[in-house]
Amino acid sequence: MNSFSSLLQEHRLFQPPKQFSDNAEISSMDQYSSLLKEAQFDILEHWSKQAKRIHWFSSWNTILDWKHPKAQWFKEGTINASFNCLDIHLGTEYKNKKAIIWEREDGHKIELTYAELHNKVGRFASSLKSLGIRKGESVTIYMGMNPEAIIAMLACARIGIVHNVVFGGFSAEALRDRINDSSSVCVITQAITKRRGSDIPLYDAVFSALQSCPSIREVISKDLPKSDKQETPRFHDWDSLLTSHEVVCDPLHIESEHSLFYLYTSGSTGKPKGLVHTTGGYLTHVHYSFGLVFDPKPDDVYFCTADIGWITGHSYVVYGPLMHGMTILIYEGALNHPHPGKIWELIQYHKATILYTAPTAIRAFMSAGNQIPNAFDLSSLRLLGTVGEPINPEAWMWYHSIIGNERCPIVDTWWQTETGGIMIAPIPGAVPTKPGTATMPLPGILADIVDKSGNPTPSNVGGYLVIKHPWPGMARTIFGDDARYEAVYWSEFPPNDHHEGMYFTGDGARKDDDGYFWIMGRVDDVVNVSGHRLGTAEIESALVSHPSVAEAAVVAKPDEIKGNALIAFVTVMKDRPVDIQALKQELKDHVAKEIGAIAKPEDIRFTEGLPKTRSGKIMRRLLREIVSQGTISGDTTTLEDFSSLEKLRSSDEE
Ligand code: WTA
Repeated sequence: MNSFSSLLQEHRLFQPPKQFSDNAEISSMDQYSSLLKEAQFDILEHWSKQAKRIHWFSSWNTILDWKHPKAQWFKEGTINASFNCLDIHLGTEYKNKKAIIWEREDGHKIELTYAELHNKVGRFASSLKSLGIRKGESVTIYMGMNPEAIIAMLACARIGIVHNVVFGGFSAEALRDRINDSSSVCVITQAITKRRGSDIPLYDAVFSALQSCPSIREVISKDLPKSDKQETPRFHDWDSLLTSHEVVCDPLHIESEHSLFYLYTSGSTGKPKGLVHTTGGYLTHVHYSFGLVFDPKPDDVYFCTADIGWITGHSYVVYGPLMHGMTILIYEGALNHPHPGKIWELIQYHKATILYTAPTAIRAFMSAGNQIPNAFDLSSLRLLGTVGEPINPEAWMWYHSIIGNERCPIVDTWWQTETGGIMIAPIPGAVPTKPGTATMPLPGILADIVDKSGNPTPSNVGGYLVIKHPWPGMARTIFGDDARYEAVYWSEFPPNDHHEGMYFTGDGARKDDDGYFWIMGRVDDVVNVSGHRLGTAEIESALVSHPSVAEAAVVAKPDEIKGNALIAFVTVMKDRPVDIQALKQELKDHVAKEIGAIAKPEDIRFTEGLPKTRSGKIMRRLLREIVSQGTISGDTTTLEDFSSLEKLRSSDEE
C-alpha cells in the first residue's frame, strides 16, 4: 500500500497537465484569480451572473433574501429543472446525442438520446398527473441505478412534485421511516435490482413497508410482480403507464424556492433528517460547479459511480451533467462484478473521459493489484474526481499514476448533502493540486476554518470548517423541523458583533501555508464508512431496540479500505442468558434489518458496563482510543466507573 510513499513530499504540487490546460475553460492562475476577485468584489452579483447561465421562464428581483438562518435565492424567478436538463438541448445538435448509457451486471445495455429521454420523461410526468399527484406533494423513489430512476426524478421535477430518493440498499424499515417522515403519496420502485449477482427484491421491501405507510396512495413498479387488487394504495406497472400516456407534458413554471427534492441523511443525533433542496439556487450552484470542476466538453463520456440514492447521484449524475448536455454512463451493480476489473472495462468499452468516484473504491481497486487496471485501455480518460471522504495520499498517487497515467488532473471535491453542490475543489486547468487536499473553495464560496469562538485559526492549526456566507445550493431546512435545522447547522456560530453567523459543517480541517484546505474528518458522531454517511446514534438506537441489548455505543475504527469500520460496544440485559457468538450475528442482522446492510457493525464487543462521565454521558473518546490504539491515553478523571475500563480492555483482547 505504501509503494508511492517515497514519491510523496510534504508540499509536492502537481501542476495541471499542459494538454489539459491547453483546452480548459479556465487555464491559468490569472484567470482563476480574476474570477475569485470578481466573486469577492460582489458575491451576490457573482451568483446572479451564474444564475443567468441557466434557463428561467421569468427572472428574479431579489438575488438573496437572508434572514438567519433562512435563505431564499432568486425568489421571484420561475424555472424548471427538467426543462434545463432536457428541453434546452432539443433545438441543438445535442438532440440526438446520447444522454444516458446504461449497463447492468448481466451485460444488458441501453442508450437513450436526449430526445428519447425527453419523450419518456414527458410520458411519465403525464402518468403521474393522471394519477392525481399534484405539485408540492412528495413521491419516494426506491430503485437501482437505471434510466427509470432518472426518468422518475425528472418527471417529478417537470410538474413540481418533490422527489425523495431512498437508496436501494436501505431496508424496508428505513424506507418506511423515510416515506412517513416525508408524507409521500406515491412510491416508485422496481421488482428487483441486481448486485454482485444477487437479486435485491426492492418491490418486496416496498410491499412490506406499505403495511404502515398511510400516506401512500399509488405504487408504480417497473416489472410489477403481481397485480394487487387493493383500493389503496393502487398498484401500476411502469411500462403500461408509459405506453398509455401522452408524450407532451409541458414543464410547469416553478417558483425558484419551490422544493425540488428531499434527501435523507444521517446526523449526529436522532433519526435521519430530510434535507430540503429548492429549485433555482440549487440548479445554479450545480450548473456552475459542474462547469468549473469538470470542465465539460461536447465529446465527454462522463462516468460518476455514485448511486442515485445519495446527493452525488442527484447533483453530479443527474442535474449537473444533464444541464451541461453530457453523455452520462451509469452502471447498475457492483463495480467489481462480474469480474474485478469491471469498472475499467466500462471505461475502455464506452471510452469514458471523466471518472468521478469515492476514495474507498480507489483503495479497494488499488489493493486488488495494478495488473487489473493495466489490462485495460484507459487512454480515453482526461479527468479524475473523488468525493465523499478524505483521500489518503497513497491512494491519490495510485489514481494519478495507474489510472490517470499522469495525464489527468485529479479533482478532490469536498461538499455535503447539505451544501447541494461542490464547495471546495481545484479548478483542474488552473489550480495545482496536492495529494490529500481538496485545495481551495470555489469562487463565491466563503469557507474558513475557525476555533470554538469563531476566530480563524492560523495556518496549520486545526479547527472547524465553516461557511461564512449563504450560497445558492444550500439546503433550506430539514423537512418539518426548522428548529432542528437551526440547532444543527446555525447555532454553533450564531451571529454576533464580529460576523453574521456561520454554517457549521461538522467537519474538522486545517489550512496549510498555501491556503489549501485539508479536511480531517467529522468532529461529531457521524461516521463515514466506504463513503457512506452513517450516524452512530441511529445504529445505537437500532441495537438497543433488540430485546437482549441494554446499552450500546458505536464508534469508528480507522480502516485501510473503507476509511472507517464500525465497532459496537454492547451491554446485554442481565436477566437474559445469551450465546455470545449467536447474539453477535443476530445483532448484525438486526441492524441490517432496521437500517440496511451498510450500517452493520464490523464487530460487536460485549462488556459489562460502558465508560461514562459523572453526568452519565458515554465517553466515546475512550472507546475510539480502545478500538484504534488498544490503549487509553488522556484524561479519564471524569469517569464514573473505572472498572468498566478494565472490562472493555479485556473484552478487546478476547
Ligand atoms: C465527507 C457527500 C474529505 C465530509 C458529497 C462531509 C469529504 C461528508 C470529502 C458529507 C472530501 C465529502 N474530502 N471529506 N473531498 N467529501 N467528505 O453528505 O466529512 O454524504 O461532511 O455528501 O463527507 O457526506 P455526504
